[in-house]
Amino acid sequence: MLGDGVAVIPTAMEKARNSDAHFPFRYDSYFWYLTGFNEPEAALVLVGGDKPQSILFCRDKDETREIWDGFRYGPDGAKQRFGFDTAYSISELDTKLPELIANRATVWHSLGHDASWDARISAALNAVRAQTRSGKHAPNQIHDLRAPLDAMRLIKDSHEMATMKRAADISSAAHAQAMRSCQVGLHEYALEAELSYAFRKSGADAHAYTPIVAGGSNACVLHYVANNQMLQDGTLVLIDAGCEVEGYASDITRTFPVNGRFSSAQRDVYEIVLAAQSAAFKAIKPGNTFIAPHEAALKTLTQGMVDLGLLKGDVDGLIESEAYKPFFMHRTGHWIGLDVHDVGEYKEGEDWVKLRPGMALTVEPGMYIRPADDIPEHLHGIGIRIEDDVLVTEQGCYVYSSAPKTVAEIEAVMNS
Ligand code: GLY
Ligand code: MN
Ligand code: MN
Repeated sequence: MLGDGVAVIPTAMEKARNSDAHFPFRYDSYFWYLTGFNEPEAALVLVGGDKPQSILFCRDKDETREIWDGFRYGPDGAKQRFGFDTAYSISELDTKLPELIANRATVWHSLGHDASWDARISAALNAVRAQTRSGKHAPNQIHDLRAPLDAMRLIKDSHEMATMKRAADISSAAHAQAMRSCQVGLHEYALEAELSYAFRKSGADAHAYTPIVAGGSNACVLHYVANNQMLQDGTLVLIDAGCEVEGYASDITRTFPVNGRFSSAQRDVYEIVLAAQSAAFKAIKPGNTFIAPHEAALKTLTQGMVDLGLLKGDVDGLIESEAYKPFFMHRTGHWIGLDVHDVGEYKEGEDWVKLRPGMALTVEPGMYIRPADDIPEHLHGIGIRIEDDVLVTEQGCYVYSSAPKTVAEIEAVMNS
């Protein structure tokens, strides 16, 4: 893939939160995918051509810093432990890079991803150009490494599948625990705490994204993250939360009654969303397009909206005119992997990408009924999403996540 070129893949920058405090460090997903090396201030350089090489640039060993901040591999330790061909101090990168790229045709770099790295690559190119009279020539092509890496990341290998399964298992158990501990009068953050506790207790790295714990009509706010309201009797609570394990995300949503029993209106809506998810699962198989599960879910949801009295008319016409959008305004899924909204193309030209074994995606139909004069009152404020993570297999799909999901399962776990 690299041809004669040289690729530069830096990890993420540490980010200041305030004063001397930093946000928890999370490595860059591409860098992690290629190295498994989790220290900040590091970059991988891959050299193509006749003598391909993997070179890590990383922090030096430093006794004082290690007393304050913890262990560092240092270049020698990293080379030994991770099997890079060569490793140097990150402080040498700016002098080594011009040597590494000189007389090569191409530099592979994610231009525009990080301005400071763009400047560093430009400086290296200029350093080579400055040596033209001594016979060196600078690469005259910059290619974006993300395109080929995205295509690789779209298809999960067996290790990635196993890691995603672990993440989904931990998250599924955490959702079940949140259901068990739910009570009228708790605050949303108390359920968030159950999830955080269960994630870390099982060894997950962190939340894969900011969790949503949305009681009652807060569930109709798609990215509700305040999580600070009291859970009321007779309402539902929607939890969209998933942990990250070795960099791999899970992304699970469950919606359940705060008091442990669905009302008949809540159940009616719930069964429609659940049926939409089943219809979507059936549409996932190799050769079908990425959008097929969305179309299947949409049909079931729109029929449901008619049955509930939210919409009037013929289902195909209502889909065509997007009349469903006030109640279902997002897609039914996205790729999932190292990023919760993972990389990978959704279209090839004008056409939706065809599903292939090894692709992983979420299936997350929902219905959100905000109170309004023209909406039947018994449906006001009901917001439901059901989200699971699936792997495309040779036969169809395998559902990674297993948190209680049917009305009977949820009521059983909440009342046991
Ligand atoms: N939790 C983000 C999503 O469902 O896409
Ligand atoms: Mn999702
Ligand atoms: Mn989600």
